[in-house]
Parts: sequence; C-alpha cells; structure tokens
Amino acid sequence: EKGGYDHFMLKEIFEQPRSIADSMRGRINLENASLQLGGLRDYLDKIAKTDRIVIVACGTSWHAGLVGEYLFEELARVNVEVEYASEFRYRNPIIKEGDIVIAISQSGETADTMAALELAKSKGAIILGVCNVVGSSIARITHAGVYTHAGPEIGVASTKAFTAQVTVLSLIAIATAHKKGTISQDLYRELLFGLEAIPAKVEKILKSADKIKDISKLFTFASNFIFLGRGLNFPVALEGALKLKEISYIHAEGYPAAEMKHGPIALIDEDMPVVFIATKDNSYEKIVSNIQEVKARKGRVIAIVTEGDTLIPKMVDFVIEVPRTNDLLLPLITSIPLQLISYYIAVMRGRNVDQPRNLAKSVTVE
Ligand code: F6R
Repeated sequence: EKGGYDHFMLKEIFEQPRSIADSMRGRINLENASLQLGGLRDYLDKIAKTDRIVIVACGTSWHAGLVGEYLFEELARVNVEVEYASEFRYRNPIIKEGDIVIAISQSGETADTMAALELAKSKGAIILGVCNVVGSSIARITHAGVYTHAGPEIGVASTKAFTAQVTVLSLIAIATAHKKGTISQDLYRELLFGLEAIPAKVEKILKSADKIKDISKLFTFASNFIFLGRGLNFPVALEGALKLKEISYIHAEGYPAAEMKHGPIALIDEDMPVVFIATKDNSYEKIVSNIQEVKARKGRVIAIVTEGDTLIPKMVDFVIEVPRTNDLLLPLITSIPLQLISYYIAVMRGRNVDQPRNLAKSVTVE
C-alpha cells in the first residue's frame, strides 16, 4: 500500500535512501574496503578484458545506461556504446564472439530489450542483466547479472528503479576498474565510502521536499521546460525531462548545456523555465556561463546547486541545494530534486501521477 503517501510515486521517491542502500547491501564491505558482486563472479574477468561494452535499454533505463557509459569510460577506460534496444535490434549491429552486452531493465520484460539480447546472444556475445524483477524474462535469458534491489515499483514513472540502476552500474564499473587496475586505491576507497554515504544525503534532499514543492507550484502552468546539465548530469537532465513529460504532460527537453547555442537557445524567452543541474564539479565554470546565456535572454532559471554555493544563487531565480559528493556519484543526488519537481507539478495539474495516460508499467509489445 501507499504507506501514508498520496501516491505510489511519492512513496517510491521517499524510499530511495533504503532502495539505494539495499542495492549495495552485502556487496560493499567498508571494513576492508572491498566490493563483491556475486552475480558476476564468473564474468568480471571477461568484463575487465573486453575492449568494448554495449549497453541496451529503453526509456529511463537507457538514461541509467548513459550514466554507466561515463562511469565505465572514466574508471575502467573501456569503450562503451549505449543503444536504444529498439534501434539496435533492427540494425545489423556489429557484435562479435565474446563481446559484452549489458541490458538494463526494471521489469525485465521489455520486449525490445529482450529481443536485443536475443540478437546479441545469437552472435556469441556474453549477455548480462541489470534487472529489478527477480526471475523476469531478461534475468532468465542472460548469462549473469546483478539485481537492483529497489523492491516493487508500482508508479508507472520510474524513480527508485533508476537510482538503483545507477547504483549497480557504479558498482560494476568500480569493480571492473579495480580488477583492471585502472583506478587508484585512493579513488577506489573514496568511491566505496562515497556510495555508502549516498542514502543519508538523499534523505537530506527529501527533507527539503516542501521547499521544492513551493518552487514547483510557480511552474504549474508552464507549457514547456528545458533541462540542462553537463557530464554525468547530462543524462540526469534527460531523465528530468522524461519524468516531467510523462506525468505532467508538459513538453520538456533535456540537452547537454553546451548544445544550447546550437539551436535550442532560440526557444528562450521569459516564459521558458530552464532547470540547470549546476553542481560544483569539473564543469562548474562552464555551466555558470551557460546560465548567463539563458539569463541574458530572460529565461526563468531553477538551479540545482551544491550546498554553500554563493555565486549561482545570485544569478538565478530559484535554487535547490544538494549535498556534496564525489563527482562520479552525482546522478544519485541530482536526480532526486528533479523527480520531486515533476511529481509536484503533475499533482498540481491534477494528473493521474501513478498511471499517466497512454503508458504501461511494462512494455511487452514492441
Ligand atoms: C519512464 C519509464 C520507462 C521505462 C522503460 C523501460 O519512467 O518507466 O521509460 O524505463 O519502459 O522499462 P524497463 O526498465 O522495465 O525495461
């Protein structure tokens, strides 16, 4: 049941401190700073040896895949391609014997993702799964995998499944990097300790839900939204836009912030809300200039900033603070306020948040 929340979606957003912790439980051991992924025991060697990983998924899970791409490339120095399962399966994709193909799927039943895996398997690939539903079709067809332990997700819009997917992909990328020796012992420890600290940080963001609600209220009648981020926050921007579209029916687009000037900036005027994910990471200065570009054209800016930032709050209309974390773990933090913004706007528009029109929880037809 909804456990006192108005909707399953809100309950699931608030469950994230636990679902993220559950997705790490028994895998990270801080006492000896170690990481065990039982599900990949026989495959980690192969992942560490491959020169190419292909990730296949749809929708929100595809966004988690994009986060995975950054993590694998940065930490394990391996080439990663993230494919929409529906596109991959109808091309003649180049897959050779022994390639690693990872499917990401909450339900484990998505028809296109399943078909992409069958195709990859028929070409001799090693197919791995990151699924939430134990015993699902994808979990059964894959050679091995790592479950996200998010618990049942009822709301059609994926929230806790996304952060659980990102958690598990982080673990796989860190384990691969450790095995390959492409990560320093210091960074390895920092990331493991950083991951363990995420649930408490998510909890802290959830405590500011009322403030996020007040800001969201002012945008109830917007007809468009743009979400911008750079680096690891770019997939978060895509996910923020998807969430808003699906439950509020407001047209929204996510872009890498630097792409603005190649077209979308023409959309900016005083009626265009722009959400910047502008945390203090290695693209901070760049994103500050992107914010200036939007403010110069009178866009209304909501910025997700790192606690204690004093510069951006002076430039923008609204700020939402999030705790500091290692740059590589930011999506686990920055996606939370975006989920809440979508939720509150949709509720204020009177939408059926848990069951948006035209959408199904698991897409078992192509
Ligand atoms: C969006 C959403 C969908 C799913 C997509 C894939 O909130 O839920 O975009 O992410 O249909 O579903 P799974 O992960 O079950 O394969």
